[in-house]
Amino acid sequence: MTTTALGIPLFGVRGGRGGSAADQRDGLPHSSRPDRPGLIDSHGRQAIDLRVSLTDKCNLRCTYCMPAEGLDWLPGQELLTDAELLRLIGIAVGRLGVTEIRFTGGEPLLRKGILGLVQSVGRLPQRPEMSLTTNGIGFARRAAAFAAAGLDRVNISMDTLQRDTFKTLTRRDRHADVVAALEGAVAAGLAPVKINTVLLRGINDHEAADLLDFSIARGYHLRFIEQMPLDAGHEWNRTAMVTADEIQAALSARFTLTPHPLARAGAPAELFTVDGGPATVGIIASVTRPFCGDCDRTRLTADGQIRNCLFARGETDLRGMLRGGGTDDEIADVWRMAMWRKLPGHGINDPSFLQPDRPMSAIGG
Ligand code: 5AD
Ligand code: SF4
Repeated sequence: MTTTALGIPLFGVRGGRGGSAADQRDGLPHSSRPDRPGLIDSHGRQAIDLRVSLTDKCNLRCTYCMPAEGLDWLPGQELLTDAELLRLIGIAVGRLGVTEIRFTGGEPLLRKGILGLVQSVGRLPQRPEMSLTTNGIGFARRAAAFAAAGLDRVNISMDTLQRDTFKTLTRRDRHADVVAALEGAVAAGLAPVKINTVLLRGINDHEAADLLDFSIARGYHLRFIEQMPLDAGHEWNRTAMVTADEIQAALSARFTLTPHPLARAGAPAELFTVDGGPATVGIIASVTRPFCGDCDRTRLTADGQIRNCLFARGETDLRGMLRGGGTDDEIADVWRMAMWRKLPGHGINDPSFLQPDRPMSAIGG
């Protein structure tokens, strides 16, 4: 372990931009951080939304995410236990000003203790908002239990209305499960249910307007996400990506979109009113209309690393602190410094951009 000038331990910052190199590159001595409890950064933002990845495993194999054979999953002993996760979430909520917890994966429903975790987080003294991002497999029969445990909202990923396309895209024949998950979520009172959709050129991009029709008819809130360079195979390329402009044009052929009064309001989705409302549609254009200046997120990976950005190339290890006897105060301080160093933007559009080593499934969406 290295120790900074102020005696704050710097636990194993990993990755290409990690460690003291990151400090030198960012030119941010610890002493320049104002003494504030929240997760502020040096560019005027504050993270209040914690994304917690519960596992890097998944039961689908979306072609834009992971290969057919899966990935080398994180070894079990490196994963945070439920008790460790709860402790870190408690620190985030109790000391660092986090007000929203989103459980993600991989596929978070594959984590055995997830329901208990939701319950425990819901009992924290400063109860955060809790949401779940899931591919929906197996959610239909568990939706009521999640609602009872205190889950507030759910985002279900669905890229297509066609069973065959779903099979091609996810390499699994589970489309009906996802439709059932959406219905189960509404039945359990988890409305408004959000749908996340990634469009791929030549595969499902012709379905944009159909997906919106489907969503409006059932009261789901649809959000299109531009494909980001976070695939395990590092095969993303700009020309294959369906852009926000293209999505807007495709939707405008059938609907009238007008910017919603809450066009962004801190959320990454640019919101549009559809045909005069009340229906809306969101477009998350991380690549072509970056919203880094409004980012309010911090991320915890399933193996206990803080990432201050999806695209960060360095991480800050909290697992070592948890297991090495670090106190809550020490952990909170290290987390604060990890966020203080957050870069102003993801840099995807810079020629020097390098994709992070971890794929999306090991970071959490
Ligand atoms: N770009 C954009 N979205 C992605 N997702 C997974 N990989 C990518 C990517 N490379 C989406 C999933 C899911 C959410 C967690 O993120 O489809 O909806
Ligand atoms: Fe699983 Fe999500 Fe990756 Fe698809 S995008 S393989 S559902 S982690």
